[in-house]
Amino acid sequence: MSDPVVEAKRDAGIRAADMVKDGMVVGLGTGSTVFFAMERLGERIRSENLHIFGVPTSNQTAMRAEEYGIPLTTLTLHPKLDLAIDGADQVDPKKRMIKGRGAAHLREKVVADAANQFVVVIDAGKEVAGLDAAVPIEVLPFAYGSVVRRLQELGGEPVMRNGVKKDGPVISDNGNYVIDCAFGAVADPAGLETAINAIPGVLGNGIFARMTEKTVVIVGGRK
Ligand code: A5P
Repeated sequence: MSDPVVEAKRDAGIRAADMVKDGMVVGLGTGSTVFFAMERLGERIRSENLHIFGVPTSNQTAMRAEEYGIPLTTLTLHPKLDLAIDGADQVDPKKRMIKGRGAAHLREKVVADAANQFVVVIDAGKEVAGLDAAVPIEVLPFAYGSVVRRLQELGGEPVMRNGVKKDGPVISDNGNYVIDCAFGAVADPAGLETAINAIPGVLGNGIFARMTEKTVVIVGGRK
């Protein structure tokens, strides 16, 4: 029997991939939902002779792109992208979100920022009335202790993300640590995003509250 959440993710991914037009340069997010979009893009490249390039947001996405036959480029060659497709962990009614379950949020935000349009693909379980998940924060290892102290001063409860099938900290694709910091209900997502980023040693955080105007949210299974 098919899993309705998986089917919703597949539907959202396929609909996002069908927004891509010939000649586009596309940001490729990370996670199970965007991988459905990439699978569909690979099919379209073959069946429609589509000429596109992708910019991957993680090593895992780069490997998937190779598997699906999506040619890759870089932000150096293509600093402006037509659109970026990515998943999210929580999305509020104003299209603000928390991302980074897979620790790819630093590159994901760079790629989303570079894109004219940000297409977010989710299942309905990701929709929330208000953001309240722990905020993933990528941190320069040298600064770990002082960043933890600053996050506590901001009212957060920072926890080092530790590895699954690995002892010790998760190391991001960029060679950094990841902290998950609970703040409870986030009353001012844009303000908290800015406040966290202002801490020396923080390289990026998973609140995406400043690109809502160019964001389109596709909820799988819902037209
Ligand atoms: C990666 O670090 C995350 O930001 C993902 O984009 C997010 O967790 C969504 O993942 P799924 O599509 O697998 O739910």
